[in-house]
Amino acid sequence: MGYFPAPDRAEHSLAPWRLHVAVEQAARDLGREPDVVFLHNPEHSLHEGAAHSRDALAQACAALEEATSNGLCGAWGVASWNPSPLPSLIDTTTPKPSAFMVRAGLLVGIRTLDAADAVTAAWGLNGSMVWGMSPFGGGANAPVWGRIDSRVFLRDGIGLSPVQAAFRAAYELPKVGTVSVGTDNPAHLSDLVDALTGQVDERAIEEYRALLRARSHGQPA
Ligand SMILES: NC(=O)c1ccc[n+]([C@@H]2O[C@H](COP(=O)([O-])OP(=O)(O)OC[C@H]3O[C@@H](n4cnc5c(N)ncnc54)[C@H](OP(=O)(O)O)[C@@H]3O)[C@@H](O)[C@H]2O)c1
Repeated sequence: MGYFPAPDRAEHSLAPWRLHVAVEQAARDLGREPDVVFLHNPEHSLHEGAAHSRDALAQACAALEEATSNGLCGAWGVASWNPSPLPSLIDTTTPKPSAFMVRAGLLVGIRTLDAADAVTAAWGLNGSMVWGMSPFGGGANAPVWGRIDSRVFLRDGIGLSPVQAAFRAAYELPKVGTVSVGTDNPAHLSDLVDALTGQVDERAIEEYRALLRARSHGQPA
């Protein structure tokens, strides 16, 4: 919700009436009310100063909360590719989503990881309400995945592939309870489910975060 494709120019909007119409349309298209709808990358619509942005975000969240109360969907959430502008816009009056979904995994920078943690804290979300997305950055066959062995992030990596280890590590970067991943291949989906048995090496994850932070400050790793 909040992303409106058009033949000439797709656009983002937080206008409550457009969100309401979009939820109704989704239910018509699906032939049933969706279990959950996500506000799509609200950061794209927040350019007009802090007070205006805070109101725009709160009103968009309120529109989705109302749609949920009216039975147009089962629940609502917020998905953000770049959550950095969001923490300062959320206060106790901002309606709280059932789920906050954010980019997750080894390709995510420290600024996004910190912002995801800050949004989680600002909304007071528990672990199961925070979802990760795009753990392979859109493609598990990108060259980067051939250059690293993600099994260093697992305590018991034996038996899992680097792709499986990268998927398992995505649950810790940032800390999320669910990961939304794309696949058209049932065997790949099965591999990902099997990866959930992997035990993450929390110290390796902490060291990795420290390296990302040092790099962002221009310090030698
Ligand atoms: N808000 C946003 O701006 C935004 C942007 C992008 C994505 N998203 C969300 O994130 C979700 C996932 O993102 P995504 O699909 O772009 O990227 P992704 O989940 O990081 O990567 C999907 C790719 O990984 C491959 N893959 C998955 N499991 C694999 C396995 N076990 N072995 C080998 N390859 C595997 C898939 O290929 P195969 O099909 O061959 O398995 C597919 O090409 C989307 O559904 C969407 O909800 C949101």
